[in-house]
Amino acid sequence: MQKLTITRPDDWHLHLRDGAALKAVLPHTVRQFARAIIMPNLKPPVRTVADAVAYRDRIIAAIPAGQQFEPLMTLYLTDNTSPEDIVAAKESQFVKAVKYYPAGATTNSDFGVTDIRKCDRVFAAMQQVDLPLLLHGEVTDQAVDVFDREQVFIEQQLIPLKQRFPKLRVVLEHITTSDAVEFVLATDNIAATITPQHLLFSRNILFKGGIRPHFYCLPILKRETHRRALLQAATSGNPKFFLGTDSAPHPRDRKESDCGCAGCFSALHAMELYAEAFESADALDKLEAFASFYGPDFYQLPRNTEQITLTQKTWRIPDEVPFVESGLVPLWAGEEIAWQIS
Ligand code: DOR
Ligand code: ZN
Repeated sequence: MQKLTITRPDDWHLHLRDGAALKAVLPHTVRQFARAIIMPNLKPPVRTVADAVAYRDRIIAAIPAGQQFEPLMTLYLTDNTSPEDIVAAKESQFVKAVKYYPAGATTNSDFGVTDIRKCDRVFAAMQQVDLPLLLHGEVTDQAVDVFDREQVFIEQQLIPLKQRFPKLRVVLEHITTSDAVEFVLATDNIAATITPQHLLFSRNILFKGGIRPHFYCLPILKRETHRRALLQAATSGNPKFFLGTDSAPHPRDRKESDCGCAGCFSALHAMELYAEAFESADALDKLEAFASFYGPDFYQLPRNTEQITLTQKTWRIPDEVPFVESGLVPLWAGEEIAWQIS
């Protein structure tokens, strides 16, 4: 039986929600990861250090007894975020980044930024105190094809942003295109996270045998050439690319609906999914650095010292796990997977 023992990984992009949903999903992440960058898109969003302190306390209270987990907090950037908010965030020590959502781009983004140039004073403060900016890199212009929104964001907004603030450290989150890979490779002070779904699937899976809402997330899955470029980047050993699941739980009823929510739930089996993807590229030897080294290096945090073991053992991803309102369908539910965390 093949075993793979690696340094305990962290998740550099995670949605935990709040209340009963938080209590339902957090144990899955705690089983897999030591730390996670926690997304601030609650209703209402986490906008200030005080919001982040309170949310962090609720997360810590939901950690199963006797287990270790460190939530790394983020603030939600709005048109009203001030340079003073940035200084306070940096001084707090536990706010590790600020998240940019274009208004209307995705789940709970109504408070998001209406024009990225409105934030230049805030970006200047972030560059000054060295607080990373996390980007949901899609334009919201409805005239732009949904499959082109990341590429157009890079051209119209990200390239000018990096010209205005070359030293601002940026993470282009959940990248989905070869354009994003090329831009990250060519530009200083920018890294990217990559999800398991974007490494494993192209957009074909969205329509395989019928419409498949549990593969719908934003940015949406792209064509196979892009998937291959992402897999190549993730397995290349380049420290600019690291793990971020974007696990984003929604109740089954809200996904299987005439207007289903965006988000794939992968916290249950994230490392197994990444192992599957890396094995497909014959690159299991590159998994540890992608999952456990390059993220903390970017965030200037110590690497973890404990280890986890993945065992080659086929098991079936459950159809559903308990959640709120209705069940929670994991990514690739019902399929067999070749690795298991122990
Ligand atoms: O698919 C997504 N789900 N993309 C996002 O940007 C947000 C997330 C969520 O919060 O559900
Ligand atoms: Zn996300």
